[in-house]
Amino acid sequence: MNQAIEISNYSYVYPDGTMALDSINLTIQHGERVSLIGPNGAGKSTLLLAMAGFIRGKGTVLIDGMELCSRTLKQIRAKLGCCLENPDDQLFMPTLFEDVIFGPLNMNLPPQQVKDNVDRAFETVGLTALAEKAPHHLSAGQKRAAAIATVLSMAPQIITFDEPDGSLDPRNRKRLEEVLGRLPQTLIIATCNMRFAAAVSSRVIVVDHGRIVADGPAKSILYDKDLMEAHGLEIP
Ligand SMILES: Nc1ncnc2c1ncn2[C@@H]1O[C@H](COP(=O)(O)OP(=O)(O)O)[C@@H](O)[C@H]1O
Ligand SMILES: [Mg+2]
Repeated sequence: MNQAIEISNYSYVYPDGTMALDSINLTIQHGERVSLIGPNGAGKSTLLLAMAGFIRGKGTVLIDGMELCSRTLKQIRAKLGCCLENPDDQLFMPTLFEDVIFGPLNMNLPPQQVKDNVDRAFETVGLTALAEKAPHHLSAGQKRAAAIATVLSMAPQIITFDEPDGSLDPRNRKRLEEVLGRLPQTLIIATCNMRFAAAVSSRVIVVDHGRIVADGPAKSILYDKDLMEAHGLEIP
């Protein structure tokens, strides 16, 4: 069986010369829930962008066994959905309903499947009652949930999240943990919040200076005080 994600010897340098990822090797199996932790500037967001093909560096990225390149990008995007750091980047239609139906319509899915996907996405994040609302009228927690619904409606096998807990109050963070806990997909979640990482993932990868410096079961990584402190992090 294919791995969900297989990254080999992958490096990325931004146009201004910043080395953001340095020889990354990483395999994630289908069904895993993985947190990417590390200090600001470690390379977490860049690694998520590389997985989705938003940037192209040196090395290879395989998504469900398919090598990421311009020819496969469309198929890869159907397999892997990204929740971007800022939900506003994913909400641009007059109503939430139009945002959530946008992806599956563009994938030319049969109408019944579009409807089922949209209904299920709204139910999963608990926003069915707000479908006709304008996205810019939503609260931070609702916007986060709405942005997740726009990805769920495309029914990807793999979903990446870039600091989804950012700007959420404790109640909304708890709700988000519950939503993530219900998702059957392979999840890759970048976060700086170790309690959140402990709640949503069973495997934790520590990134610092563009390299993977630790990778293992969430419990052993997150409670390794020396490791956490060496990389500017704290135990949950
Ligand atoms: N568009 C960009 N241009 C140049 N450098 C960037 C850009 N985006 C990020 N970087 C740099 O790349 C490194 C990794 O950043 P990033 O992936 O955003 O880290 P993280 O998400 O872990 O905070 C940092 O040194 C950051 O300053
Ligand atoms: Mg980031």
